[in-house]
Amino acid sequence: MTQRLFGSLSTENFLEQHWQQKPLLVRQAVDTAGLDIDPAELAGLCCDTEAPSRIVIEQGETPWQMKVGPFEEKDFTSLPATHWSLLINDIENYLPELRAFIEPFRFLPDWRIDDLMISYATNQGSVGPHLDEYDVFLIQLQGQRQWSITEKPDFDDSLLTGTDLKILQNFQPDQQWDLLPGDMLYLPPGVPHHGVALGECMTLSVGFRAPSSAELVQSWLDDIADNEAFRGRFSDAKRQSQADSGEIAQQDLAGLKAILMQGIKESSDSLDAWLGKYLTEGKRPDPALLEAFDIQARDDIPALLTEADYQRFPGTRLAYITGENQISLFVGGLEFSLDHKHLKAVQYLCREQEYLAPALASLCSDPAMRELLNTLINNNKIVLMEHYPCDLDTGQSPYS
Ligand code: SIN
Ligand code: CO
Repeated sequence: MTQRLFGSLSTENFLEQHWQQKPLLVRQAVDTAGLDIDPAELAGLCCDTEAPSRIVIEQGETPWQMKVGPFEEKDFTSLPATHWSLLINDIENYLPELRAFIEPFRFLPDWRIDDLMISYATNQGSVGPHLDEYDVFLIQLQGQRQWSITEKPDFDDSLLTGTDLKILQNFQPDQQWDLLPGDMLYLPPGVPHHGVALGECMTLSVGFRAPSSAELVQSWLDDIADNEAFRGRFSDAKRQSQADSGEIAQQDLAGLKAILMQGIKESSDSLDAWLGKYLTEGKRPDPALLEAFDIQARDDIPALLTEADYQRFPGTRLAYITGENQISLFVGGLEFSLDHKHLKAVQYLCREQEYLAPALASLCSDPAMRELLNTLINNNKIVLMEHYPCDLDTGQSPYS
């Protein structure tokens, strides 16, 4: 699928010169031949699942109107002929064939990759000029889209009022390109851009994640509040009487700070494990996907079946940390400690989406791996592949 992902640039040069720094346009970066996604199928997906979706209409009921999915058929029949887009996040969970578009970007760690977002636009459809907080690779899949950007650091960042969408009201582009199928535009965070469909088109965004410092600290604090180290309470038996009751005395400050410092010190020992769990925690599973994989209906605990093919439940994140004494494998927020001798098996599980019967049989010759796989299957992190949810080739959706 990759033709020349970064054109004449090597991956190393891309990382050195562009990643998080500078936009890059690559003509014919990926091969999109043979890909034929039916917009009606995307619309059906937004009606029959909880795939995160939105419709953005320019000059709808308001200058920029946004409707959030799930949708009903009538939401699509009442749309104008032009100037609207349908955007669906996490599309790789619903159209697994699109996962191939993530593969070339796995020179970056999986935990940095957020999702694939597909957008279908009618002629002149766009989401308005804006900027994103994350890196994005915009791949033109079908039709043409005109992208305009500005690299001026002193751009006017004032936003349009009267809409929930963050649209730049005085966007002044200094570069513009028409992207054809296979062309790709990389944008680092914070670069103002505007993509307008020239006729009907489809664009795929490979989106990245980078937790904000505030998010990271808040989530960690939420977690350590439950820690044993914070079970105690400030105490001050045998304190001296205080001359002025308004003062927070140095001795009290020291006692209060000691609680914080001690708690933080003790929780710091498990920081790697917390990060591994935090970075692999998944979103709430879509009930439509649970149903498609026959998970909700089942009340027995699934066990590993020999000679069956498995796959990750869509959206399940895996990652590992190599420690001094062991490997910690993280699967959807769960932690498993394994011996270093299991490194290859752990790497295989983290690398693949599909785990075929022969590979599983060979892994299961090791009792620790067999137990791990059983636990993952019991927890529906790995599921039987026979319930494959969607068949893009025939254009059929099992949801409709
Ligand atoms: C789109 O695909 O229409 C918008 C993507 C973006 O601007 O980030
Ligand atoms: Co954007």
